[in-house]
Amino acid sequence: MDTSSSKKFLLLFVTFLNFFYILLAKNTPFSMSFPLISTQLSHNSSSKALFLSSLVANSNQNTNTKIMPRVPSLNYKSTFKYSMALIITLPIGTPPQNQQMVLDTGSQLSWIQCHKKIPKIPPPTTSFDPSLSSSFSVLPCSHPLCKPRIPDFTLPTSCDQNRLCHYSYFYADGTLAEGNLVREKITFSRSQSTPPLILGCATESDDAEGILGMNLGRFSFASQAKVQKFSYCVPIRQGNHTVKSTGTFYLGQNPNFRTFRYINLLTFPQSQRMPNLDPLAYTVGMLGIKIGAKKLNISTRVFQPNAGGSGQTIVDSGTEYTFLVEEAYNKVREEIVRLVGRKMKRGYVYGEALDMCFDSVHSIEIERLIGDMTLQFENGVEILINKERMLDEVEGGIHCVGIGRSESLGIASNIIGNFHQQNLWVEFDLRNRRVGFGKGECSMQV
Ligand SMILES: *[C@@H]1O[C@H](CO)[C@@H](O)[C@H](O)[C@H]1NC(C)=O
Ligand SMILES: *[C@@H]1O[C@H](CO)[C@@H](O)[C@H](O)[C@H]1NC(C)=O
Ligand SMILES: *[C@@H]1O[C@H](CO)[C@@H](O)[C@H](O)[C@H]1NC(C)=O
Repeated sequence: MDTSSSKKFLLLFVTFLNFFYILLAKNTPFSMSFPLISTQLSHNSSSKALFLSSLVANSNQNTNTKIMPRVPSLNYKSTFKYSMALIITLPIGTPPQNQQMVLDTGSQLSWIQCHKKIPKIPPPTTSFDPSLSSSFSVLPCSHPLCKPRIPDFTLPTSCDQNRLCHYSYFYADGTLAEGNLVREKITFSRSQSTPPLILGCATESDDAEGILGMNLGRFSFASQAKVQKFSYCVPIRQGNHTVKSTGTFYLGQNPNFRTFRYINLLTFPQSQRMPNLDPLAYTVGMLGIKIGAKKLNISTRVFQPNAGGSGQTIVDSGTEYTFLVEEAYNKVREEIVRLVGRKMKRGYVYGEALDMCFDSVHSIEIERLIGDMTLQFENGVEILINKERMLDEVEGGIHCVGIGRSESLGIASNIIGNFHQQNLWVEFDLRNRRVGFGKGECSMQV
């Protein structure tokens, strides 16, 4: 080795060490914060991924046989026209190009929008141009990920004609997402960057945003970058949703952690295959629901996975509303009907899912009559949903309770969506396998 190359090697090595120091060292309170924007995406944008985590649909490899979803419960369908997504901007590549990504604790693979190589058609300025990055590389077909049916990797991949590892899947509404798997760094600063991480590079897409997959899977951003904890505070939505509001996303230590209360994640061995269970999701043991002062008569059993995996309760930043399995949903609806049933719009259902709706002129009164809602967990930990956050204006003049039937999405899990995580710190402590909640004033963090 000559001096210059050994210097280079040393430099590389130090950079590498630096990173691992930052993200791995037990006693280093690594902490980096990013603005988190809550904004509305139209349904035909990438936000469809928000309704489903591991898309797990079909592969178009060789034959037309459908690969059955490994986790059918995640094959959400939704007809919402719009959904609120949480977006952060990450510096990707060398030199870094800022990429907007939807924060999704419910999915695994992260992907970015790459330029379409069509001459004369200028690519969207927000998309990533691989040719400008020195740290970009494609994942060759020989990579194990490109061999089908790797456990824990729910994206159908195949080798394309160019010997590139190609992924493609259909969302539940039939639209196709596809691209190549690549390796790229997230470059936070000159001295802080991740090693090259496996990402999807979406080529057939007009969308502005990518996805930051943050679930427990091996290939999520959190796992690949060896993030020990991350947290976010979802800002309060502004009136009619057209106004963006800003909260905060932390990688590493959150300075407010002392105020957090923790519950353990329920974890499931990979070997324990249950058809309706997503073992990679952040599953919590919910115990009950209170509306106003009244504890609803719902058996704790319906919030926990049964033998088939149905009933798992998931904290998901990528799903907008909260969804409950039939038995729990019926009890919530019964109580809402008891309190404000006379004002409810009969026969009106938003997005085939929200059916407790009211004319907006009554919304303040309805919220007052319903009162606050509390989601109850072990150790007395609670998520308090203020009465002002019970209703959402879904279209002009109509407000609905932000809770739907899981069945309407075709799933068997309970999901706590981002609508019910407003003004709340939610921390995912991966090292200690727990989730923390803390009161936040998220819109004022930045
Ligand atoms: C959504 O689809 C409609 C019609 O198919 C199209 O006009 C619109 O531009 C699309 N929006 C986005 C964000 O792709
Ligand atoms: C939404 O709010 C913005 C800002 O307050 C306002 O300019 C816009 O007209 C509103 N849109 C609707 C449909 O009410
Ligand atoms: C609670 O619900 C169960 C089953 O739905 C029912 O059998 C029981 O009587 C209810 N208890 C009360 C106090 O209403």
